[in-house]
Amino acid sequence: MVWYQPLVFSALLGVSWCTEDWTFPPGFKFGAASSSYQVEGAWNVSDKGESIWDRFTHTRPEKILNGDNGDVACDSYHLWQEDIDNIADLGLHYYRFSISWPRLLPTGFANKISEDGARYYNNLIDGLLEKGIEPMVSLYHWDLPQTLQDLGGWTNPLIADWFADYARVAYSLFGDRVKMWLTINEPMIVCDSAYNTAIIAPGILNSDHGAFLCNKHVLLAHAKAYRVYEEEFRAQYQGEISIANQLIWYEAWTEDDEDIAELAVQYIAGRYSHAIYSEEGGWPPAIEKIIDENSKKKGYATSLLPAFTQEEIELIKGTYDYYAMNYYTSRVVRAAREGEQLIAFPIGDIPDLNAVVGVRPEWPASDASPESSATFFYIYPEGIRRQLVWLKNNYGNLKFAITENGAPDVGGLNDQGRIDYYQKHLKQLLLAIKEDGINLTHFTAWTLMDNFEWTDGYRSKFGLYEVDFNDPLRTRTPRNSARFYANIIKNNALDVE
Ligand code: BGC
Repeated sequence: MVWYQPLVFSALLGVSWCTEDWTFPPGFKFGAASSSYQVEGAWNVSDKGESIWDRFTHTRPEKILNGDNGDVACDSYHLWQEDIDNIADLGLHYYRFSISWPRLLPTGFANKISEDGARYYNNLIDGLLEKGIEPMVSLYHWDLPQTLQDLGGWTNPLIADWFADYARVAYSLFGDRVKMWLTINEPMIVCDSAYNTAIIAPGILNSDHGAFLCNKHVLLAHAKAYRVYEEEFRAQYQGEISIANQLIWYEAWTEDDEDIAELAVQYIAGRYSHAIYSEEGGWPPAIEKIIDENSKKKGYATSLLPAFTQEEIELIKGTYDYYAMNYYTSRVVRAAREGEQLIAFPIGDIPDLNAVVGVRPEWPASDASPESSATFFYIYPEGIRRQLVWLKNNYGNLKFAITENGAPDVGGLNDQGRIDYYQKHLKQLLLAIKEDGINLTHFTAWTLMDNFEWTDGYRSKFGLYEVDFNDPLRTRTPRNSARFYANIIKNNALDVE
């Protein structure tokens, strides 16, 4: 008769604490993400316009591992039904994908809408909804129409209006069915990575002006697209919109480096968030001051961080329905020593702050190839929680969605490294929800299936599904992580000992 005693005892103690503790709030949603250039292929079918990634990969193949490109990628333009079946098999509540701007608007402008482009996204959206899966749609995941790049791209202030016109077309075509929108994916990569390093499209190096001009214009573009929705579509469609920021969490290298760590967080998170989410709007004051001083030292009469007019501050402020955060990795930071050579932000240090960036020895590298750019993804699960708490402390208890999180490896179906990564990050998110009172509603795995990983070509794999890129059928096979994730979704809980 002893067998039941532990049960009774545990019932008295509330044995269910174990599962309850690691259970997500009711209604919590799980999804997975992809992006147009990384999966669609069909780069020149029908009347699709050329994107900056088409141009970059075709004219600068030496910039991409093995000279690879996204001409075919996962061929999702043709295999979207298979993608939907895989999404349904995972039990995802939603699928985050992006619209290719030049596929929908071949000239980049709203004067001509591609029928084939519209049909493709309509099919995808309808196919998802038929299986009870919500579409979460990003308007911009880096594949700018080349026509607009030829006019200066994100450094031309007119892009804010071009983007708002494009957004209006997307809302009017798809807004009856799409209720979760993201305007721009990772403006920090679009601006800072692009112009400070030129390793990604459009391949232009201009670190004094490029990144900060782009920074201001993506905020304006986002805000105008938000206002279009608010004024012309919200009453009818009741959707929600945000911008998706990739945040690298920065902590002090030693206890003496707290101030510079806070500045580093303001530099990356604040520069793309303060204008939208803070009460006063505009640039984060500490960063504005530093860039102003740096600009003077460089001999410029005005700050390289272009000022906002009061009207622009008001336009941008409050243009969110939730905070969308992509999180992969963290860094430690300290002040540079006399004569230390700094590497450009964000791949290396933060020269604007005269800050050196590193990782703690106990943060493991991901399972990516050591030669790959994906070694960038050092693993620090606590970072995701700390970053959310920072956002809450700075901007209030907003509704938060994790719109990307994941880890690379070099392939194979037994992806224990990825499983551990998700398990640890989801655990931190549950702690953030339960102990820090973070109002987190969504978690999005990056990525549904292996795809074109930008400069790393097809070497780094992030997929829950493996894709065979040597097979013309681009066969997709679930990895162990797919089963692991499906289980979490089914139970709405982590399986924690
Ligand atoms: C991007 C994805 C990319 C992933 C892994 C994110 O920054 O949004 O497009 O594939 O990181 O590098």
